[in-house]
Order: sequence, then C-alpha cells, then structure tokens
Amino acid sequence: MLEATKNRGIPVNRRRFLLFAGWGFIGIFLTTLLSTIARFFFPRTIIEPPTRYKVGYPLQYPVGVSERFKKQFRIWIIREVDRVYVIEAKCTHLGCTPNWLAAEGKFKCPCHGSGFTPDGINIEGPAPRPLERFKVALDEDGQIIVDEGIRFRGERGEWEKAGAFIKV
Ligand code: FES
Repeated sequence: MLEATKNRGIPVNRRRFLLFAGWGFIGIFLTTLLSTIARFFFPRTIIEPPTRYKVGYPLQYPVGVSERFKKQFRIWIIREVDRVYVIEAKCTHLGCTPNWLAAEGKFKCPCHGSGFTPDGINIEGPAPRPLERFKVALDEDGQIIVDEGIRFRGERGEWEKAGAFIKV
C-alpha cells in the first residue's frame, strides 16, 4: 500500500501531475518554437491591388464617363468620340474621391467642393490642378490595359503624349 501510493517520498497522483505538467510545458514550448520558425519562412506580406490591369474593350464604353471601375480601381474611363482615356478618381486638393454628377456634367468633390469638367480640368473650389490620368494601351486582344505606374498631368501639357489616351 505504501509502495503503491508513494515513490521516493512523492505521492503517485502528484508525480503523475508533475509528469503531465512537464510534458505539457515541453509541448507548448516546441509548438511555439516551430510556429516561430515556420513564420520565418512565410513572412507577412501586404497584398496590394495590381497597378496594371485590363478594363475591357474600347467599344464597350459609350461616349461619356464610365464609373464601372470606380469602386474596384478608383478610376473613371472616359470615352470621347475618337479616344479613350482613364482618370484617377482622386481629388488634387487633398485626395478625396469626387463624385460624377451626370445631370450637371461634372465631377464634384464632397470634401471641400472642388469641381472638375468631364475631362478632369479643375473649374471650382480649392483643387489647384486637373485630375491625373493613367497610361492606357491596348493588349494583343484589343483590350484596354491601364498602367497606374505612369501618370499624365494636364497642367504640364502631358495629356496629348503617347500613352495618355487610345485612339478609337
Ligand atoms: S479634397 Fe477635394 S476639394 Fe478638398
């Protein structure tokens, strides 16, 4: 009886508890160590939206302002009779997203009231310059490719440069 309950002066139940606690501690330690090593091989990355993407065919856009990709890419696609270009939906005052007011035929920024013509020229409010345009090109299938890495600024006379629009 005495041997069944005691071993080296420690009661059996206490010995079992210490044994389980020891193995539990080792298990937690090894799990933490392994997950730390695993995270080293899979570093945290920030997934950003692509800066180069396709937005369909020029003829899919009727003449006017298209808001089809405003939510997804923060752009407007502008189709004129003979050209297509892409305007960034970002106010040149402090960066808010303007709204297209079709009835008034202008973009209007909700933050401080700047207004822009359909081609992006600032006409009212504190915005100091026109909206910016992104580079556009056609891929081999004839789809429009937008490249946000290259911008064209109207006040610098860049809107007539190659890449600022597509002829249709
Ligand atoms: S951010 Fe557009 S008017 Fe100020």
